[in-house]
Amino acid sequence: MTNLADPLSLPCGAVLPNRLAKSAMSERLAGPDRAPTEALARLYGAWAAGGAGLLITGNVMVDPAHLGERGNVAAEDDRHAEAWRAWAEASRGSPTWVQINHPGRQAPRRLDPAPVAPSAVGLPGTFGAFAVPRALTEGEVEGVVRRFATTARVVKDAGFAGVQVHAAHGYLVSQFLSPRTNLRTDRWGGDLAGRARFLLEVVRAIRAEVGPAYPVGVKLNTADFQKGAFSEDDAIEVAAMLEAERIDLLELSGGTYERAAMFAEPVRASTAAREAFFLDQAERVRKRVRTPLMLTGGFRTREGMAAALAGGAVDVVGLARPLAVEPDLCRRLLDGTADRALTVELATGIPQIDAMLTGSWYQVQMDRIADGRGADPGVWRISALTWYLRDLFLGGGHGR
Ligand SMILES: Cc1cc2nc3c(=O)[nH]c(=O)nc-3n(C[C@H](O)[C@H](O)[C@H](O)COP(=O)(O)O)c2cc1C
Repeated sequence: MTNLADPLSLPCGAVLPNRLAKSAMSERLAGPDRAPTEALARLYGAWAAGGAGLLITGNVMVDPAHLGERGNVAAEDDRHAEAWRAWAEASRGSPTWVQINHPGRQAPRRLDPAPVAPSAVGLPGTFGAFAVPRALTEGEVEGVVRRFATTARVVKDAGFAGVQVHAAHGYLVSQFLSPRTNLRTDRWGGDLAGRARFLLEVVRAIRAEVGPAYPVGVKLNTADFQKGAFSEDDAIEVAAMLEAERIDLLELSGGTYERAAMFAEPVRASTAAREAFFLDQAERVRKRVRTPLMLTGGFRTREGMAAALAGGAVDVVGLARPLAVEPDLCRRLLDGTADRALTVELATGIPQIDAMLTGSWYQVQMDRIADGRGADPGVWRISALTWYLRDLFLGGGHGR
């Protein structure tokens, strides 16, 4: 039976020291030149001392012209190699993988007035905060594939231990996967094989750049949870395609900006009892593939984490929000001095507000750790939300 403290050997040969991973949280701590900053390095210093067997960074963009959030790090060449090395150095206490991403249509208009996507399908219900994207040409799609590979090389050269492709949560790769947002009739669209081509080409281009012994992971939705979008059956097929590419770790999540299931899925009784939002789907994926699986979303107790590992479907437990409040939680779960994460209840019951509130409140916590004040569960919800809305519509609300 697998325990939290057991190491995990990955297909590429790398070994994770235990089964607890920090999942990606966008830190928004880049400088104006999109380079990693000292604040970002300080935040990772805190997490690297926190006992996780794997740290996955917040999303780093492959193209500085297309940002998902103000303060995103972006890397398209070696111009900030020094700052990248300092960030990797600060993270060295735990194996750290950099998540790489392109927002596609999920890019606020203030940051990206001319977003690109598989097809010109806008994001509904955002009161004009997001511009309708333009469809990428075939040549441009190939260019974006190359960008993912280049960013992966920058990550490896900096000294990070691995990369993760963000193929979840409705960003560009996920837009290619979904028939709601990918209406293309060329080889990058159509049936699932066509819609998955972009992800597979990205993985192949990265592997060619970093070599066979370097960890390459993918974060994938178990479903988008919308009618006619990327489905549970699609996710199982894509998992099998990724297994054939010998990826090292498949992280399972769910949801998009239209339906923020990653933060809280309306729980069925069976799901509530088992804590993790997407455990049922992970079990279905496990029946199909042997690729190491990481499951993220909802884990809060040592008992729930241990049960998921013991069940055999999950190889790595992903934790995001709890580690923004308690950066050393993994160490305490492992040494027995903590049984559960601190519970923070932010929900208002209005899904759109809850997604914004969740994003902003936890971002404030990461900011506090980064500038040495430490996390504070007492931070007011309204001040976090006001900051978020000012940043989205007026810009610069954060001073970075
Ligand atoms: C502030 C914040 C930023 C996030 N940024 C990212 C991101 O950059 N990439 C990503 O894949 N997921 C991101 N997530 C989602 C988390 O990785 C995770 O899937 C989600 O929070 C559910 O896990 P949890 O219940 O342990 O928090 C973010 C979550 C939060 C709260």
